[in-house]
Amino acid sequence: MRSTLIAGNWKMNGSLQSIIQLIESIKAGGVGSAQLAVCPPAVYLMKVGGMLEGSDIALGSQNVCDQSSGAYTGEVSAQMLKEAGCSYAIVGHSERRSLYLESDALVANRYAMAVESGLVPILCLGETLEERQSGVTESVVGRQLDAVLEKFGVDAIAKGVIAYEPVWAIGTGQVATPEQAQMVHEFIRGKISALNSDVASKVQILYGGSMNPGNAAELLSQADIDGGLIGGASLKAADFLAIAQAV
Ligand code: PGA
Repeated sequence: MRSTLIAGNWKMNGSLQSIIQLIESIKAGGVGSAQLAVCPPAVYLMKVGGMLEGSDIALGSQNVCDQSSGAYTGEVSAQMLKEAGCSYAIVGHSERRSLYLESDALVANRYAMAVESGLVPILCLGETLEERQSGVTESVVGRQLDAVLEKFGVDAIAKGVIAYEPVWAIGTGQVATPEQAQMVHEFIRGKISALNSDVASKVQILYGGSMNPGNAAELLSQADIDGGLIGGASLKAADFLAIAQAV
């Protein structure tokens, strides 16, 4: 039986004051059985890490460098993230892929660096609306997953979490139906299962894209949906906690 992970991706939102309030409110709430994680902007990681000490809420980053140290202006290394208290690192978010042109190969290298350093990468996969409408969802998601599988093998997948995030559902309010999401989750698990059924049965596959307190329960009840990567709704403690309680 896989456990459920509800991770909040705060993206580039908030201020020192607002994130302190958000963490205080999340810590004060009851979360039920799900593992919670929050992924604040990098500059707030140390602060939030300190505030989460002694709590069950995990800390994650929104990205991680594919190199261990050196002349990589603007990047943050896995070791630095660990020092800040991170246990998770999002990699390959669609905003990184589309706005900052991160390739499948770069995302795979970031993933591998996280694994090598003892962080749990959350690997984001997902198709655009155009790709869905042209019927290539599985080949796009499959290609993004293969970038990690072919270079680092199925053992690397065993050490991470996958997040299926259809690009057309991110921040749009247009959530995938539970059936649409389940079909892709099943495809992803099936692809891993063809290489190693034990890894496939254990790996957590989260759904992301306009998940909110109103649609979470139905999405999370699907056989292959093991949690959520939550953007907008994770910025309100009440909504984030309500999603966790829907598990
Ligand atoms: P959203 O974002 O919940 O605001 O759609 C999800 C994500 O980008 O991870």
